[in-house]
Amino acid sequence: AAMAAPNEHAHRVDTVAHRGASGYAPENTMAAFRKAVKMKADYIEIDVQVTKDGQMVVIHDNTVDRTTDGTGKVKDLTFEEIRELDAGSYFDPEFAGEQIPTFEEVLDEFRGKTGILIELKSPELYPGVEEMVADALRERNMDKPANNKIIVQSFNFDSMKTFHELLPDIPVGVLTNKPEQLTDEMLDEFATYADYVNPSLKMFSPELLERVRERGMKMSVWTVRKPEEAEPLLDAGVDGIITDYPDYVPRNKHK
Ligand code: G3P
Ligand code: CA
Repeated sequence: AAMAAPNEHAHRVDTVAHRGASGYAPENTMAAFRKAVKMKADYIEIDVQVTKDGQMVVIHDNTVDRTTDGTGKVKDLTFEEIRELDAGSYFDPEFAGEQIPTFEEVLDEFRGKTGILIELKSPELYPGVEEMVADALRERNMDKPANNKIIVQSFNFDSMKTFHELLPDIPVGVLTNKPEQLTDEMLDEFATYADYVNPSLKMFSPELLERVRERGMKMSVWTVRKPEEAEPLLDAGVDGIITDYPDYVPRNKHK
């Protein structure tokens, strides 16, 4: 008889478009998210921060300098100021006029079309952001996992504990690229509130995956930017691959 493929009976891997399909369009813009949906990504990954006047916006860096034609910290700019910025031209003139999206716009446009992996970026800069995100989900009846593919993640573990207490039905993930955060003690602690441990590619090993699985958690790995980087992750059977290039993850391949 033919040998069973590894992980034959498990669900296939989720393809997560990192900041949208950011290899093909300016990161964290509607253009990048729409591209990801066209490419049939299972999730878009977005970074959420808060403006001076309390609007949740989607941008990776703590400043607007790299990805827009403006300068300054997100937390020191009003939403009106942020909205005037061009968030597309830095990537390619073709995308001139792309704006920094609000978190709520992304929820409204993409719910039901793709999953959303929400990263709380630097939540220590934005006290109360966990409640704000929870409220936005609750208002839309997106606070129950049944009909929505929503996951919340952060490098800030306290923030994820807080979020888990606010919306216990929404899975949370911890992000890490530090070996000292992947000891047995740390993994045991994560398992008390987290559903995912999401390491950088550099931290990944099949052994780490096993240690995470033993504790009942899942794993998505970031950031795949070369086709060959997906292979060992697929072979090991990770739950998700977070990539700038959703087409680098073969559809329907194991796990
Ligand atoms: O989704 C994981 C990844 O987004 C974490 O790193 O810096 O791209 O937000 P970063
Ligand atoms: Ca991110």
